[in-house]
Amino acid sequence: MLEALPDRVRIVEVGPRDGLQGEAKHITTEQKLAYIGRLIESGLGDIEIGAFVSPKAVPQMADTLEVAARLPAAPGVRYLALVPNYRGLEHALEAGLKRIAIFTAASNTFCEKNIRMSIARSLDVYGEVVGAALTAGLSVRAYLSTCFECPYEGAVPKQRVVELTERLLELGADEVVISDTTGSAAPREVYETVGCCVGAVSAEKIALHFHDTYGTGMANVLAGLELGVRTFDASAGGIGGCPFAPGAAGNIATEDLVYMLDRMDIRTGVDIRKVVHAARLLADALGRTLPSRNFSRLNIQNV
Ligand code: COA
Ligand code: ZN
Repeated sequence: MLEALPDRVRIVEVGPRDGLQGEAKHITTEQKLAYIGRLIESGLGDIEIGAFVSPKAVPQMADTLEVAARLPAAPGVRYLALVPNYRGLEHALEAGLKRIAIFTAASNTFCEKNIRMSIARSLDVYGEVVGAALTAGLSVRAYLSTCFECPYEGAVPKQRVVELTERLLELGADEVVISDTTGSAAPREVYETVGCCVGAVSAEKIALHFHDTYGTGMANVLAGLELGVRTFDASAGGIGGCPFAPGAAGNIATEDLVYMLDRMDIRTGVDIRKVVHAARLLADALGRTLPSRNFSRLNIQNV
């Protein structure tokens, strides 16, 4: 079993977007930039810095253009931001970002509530957005939300997840992020749904995005590793929750993921203590304790 596991995993830090969008308290642009600075210091190579979405839909992301414009040059770090339509792409180009993330869902009701488009319509819109992004020299990640359970429709058929994964890759995305938006999946569903996706499109094109609502997040990561997936999303401190999926907890915590992978001799290039240093800034800015297990264990000063 152990021989099948990878010796290296890529962690995509989604805290500045997925994490902060679910926090009732808004942090300032200065605090966001300081937090991103600490994430960079920790060795994370992929950082989602915000979302070019409607500020009415997600007010926490309203300053993404300013954040993007003031990002430090960080060799080896890929910044990306969420883009829901052509207007979002224009903002990403204006900010000089080289990577965007589009997002649709595997359940129509969630898709409508989240981006006010059906799944079919979103694929039309993204066809145009991705085409223009690739022409401009950008690369594209594609999130597929509610791949296991929809907060409005219930269980999601795995065949639909496979078909949409294939469609998003055909549009020109280089990876599809199979996302458990509600955080309710358990490893059996990961083996089934993600296993089918891996069989259809290969593991290198799949990333996994787990929320930890019921405590199954890390078990789901292990299931993904066993299926050959090498890319996992996480957020420092484990903050957040989707504003359109009531009751969902935050992402799996980056430091908890790094802890587990370190103990399994799976390299990430990420320094757990420095991730905690970033999370500490968040705990101070948000004025609350964080759900991560390793945060309280390592939350010592002077890292
Ligand atoms: N960036 C900023 N503002 C945008 C925008 C973008 N990419 N796209 C649209 N808007 C603005 C419009 O200018 C308009 O503003 P106004 O009311 O001041 O005139 C308003 O948003 C509505 O525009 P419209 O084109 O009618 O969009 P909509 O109401 O159908 O909403 C989305 C569609 C996609 C823009 C909106 O639902 C959205 O931003 N969703 C993001 C949800 C999200 O981030 N969820 C969390 C991630 S999983
Ligand atoms: Zn999420």
